[in-house]
Amino acid sequence: MICVLGGRSLRGVVPISGAKNAALPAIIASLLTTEPVILHRVPRLLDVETAVRLVQALGKEVCWEKDTLKIWGGEKLSSEAPAELVQRMRASFLVLGPVLARTGLARVPLPGGCALGPRPVDFHLHGLSRLGARITFIDGAVLAEAQRLRGAIVYLDFPSVGATEQLLLAGALAEGETVVINPAREPELTNLTELLRKMGAEVTWNTDHVVIRGQEELGGAEHTLLPDRIEAGTYLLAGAITGGRVRAVNAEPRHLFALLDRLSCAGCEIDYGEDWIEVRGAQRPRAVDFRTWPYPGFPTDLQPPMVSFLAIAEGRSTVTETVYAARFGHVEPLIQMGAKIQVSGSVQIVEGVGELRPAAVEATDIRAGAALVLAALAAQGVSYVRGEQHLRRGYENMEGKLRGLGAQIWEEEG
Ligand code: EPZ
Repeated sequence: MICVLGGRSLRGVVPISGAKNAALPAIIASLLTTEPVILHRVPRLLDVETAVRLVQALGKEVCWEKDTLKIWGGEKLSSEAPAELVQRMRASFLVLGPVLARTGLARVPLPGGCALGPRPVDFHLHGLSRLGARITFIDGAVLAEAQRLRGAIVYLDFPSVGATEQLLLAGALAEGETVVINPAREPELTNLTELLRKMGAEVTWNTDHVVIRGQEELGGAEHTLLPDRIEAGTYLLAGAITGGRVRAVNAEPRHLFALLDRLSCAGCEIDYGEDWIEVRGAQRPRAVDFRTWPYPGFPTDLQPPMVSFLAIAEGRSTVTETVYAARFGHVEPLIQMGAKIQVSGSVQIVEGVGELRPAAVEATDIRAGAALVLAALAAQGVSYVRGEQHLRRGYENMEGKLRGLGAQIWEEEG
């Protein structure tokens, strides 16, 4: 478990790693070719290890050199994704399209992932069916078959990140043109598009749809992942919640404008340049309302850490979660730490309190874990956060980076 002696203002510079949610689809995109795909700025995370083991299990060769990952081979891809890897990480489901496109057959167990409420994959399956895949279900796994995928028009009922990635990957080797209406526009999609184009894919983004013109085959590429906007936002919020001054470097300010708007409304001072963002916390932040929304809206992945910050703000904040049905894993533990939060439907009403108290709490997903570490940094005394394996999934060297900002944080058995 992670131990935090809170109550100190964090100050200093924190380097931001490559984005987890760009690394995972990029690693899986290597299945589309047998030539080498070289990825730079790959964060060392449990989820990245899982994705690496997944493509190895399917037939790829992989080697690491510092934060560069080289993936090649897979002339003969397996069509079976190992259940224990897919159950561990929802993004594993993205192998369905590439494996199907390469081999004509794919069997992928229905995914596990975070406890954020039901997380169906109906949009993924709708899209692949539109491209001509025959989809059946056997023993909790999806079996997809298609001699050759054919491009089609696909409407997504919700701009799903995963379903859009699934269709970019499958469409890249389909015959003809795939048009995805209402696609996700997260920066990680832009990064994946850049990689696919380097591999020879033809992808054109328009205002309300993206067009993928399929190729016979794709080649290798060398590519650098974009900075992790959720990691950056988390550390900026660590500065805000402790009334400190934190500068995130090797970051992309444009990807965090929704957060910066609300931090500024809460009384924080914001500054940013080409590749850095700085937040100076207020003596006592003011309550703000926000709702999460697909990009460029307020990122749902920063909703739990932002609620920790609002838990000590002056006044009442209304937080509406519109992306997930139940992203409230942080609420109970925060209440244990003295927060006053009421949940009704998709809305959290947060009555700010003067301070949080240290406690022993349990993280149930990556971002709820981050929220609890931030709350512990603000609470005077020693807090214990169990479920640290969730943090290892999504934050590279979190303790080291927080210690670099002056936090007193360490790991103990327990
Ligand atoms: C990606 O998940 C991210 N994960 C999530 O980050 C992030 O919260 C999410 O996008 C939204 O931004 C990765 O990129 C690996 P969705 P994804 O498909 O693709 C529903 C983190 O902490 N839905 O955009 O799974 C779904 O249930 C993780 O880094 C369907 O109903 O998200 C959810 O309510 C957590 N049917 C909503 O859409 C589908 O077929 C958004 O899901 C697919 C999704």
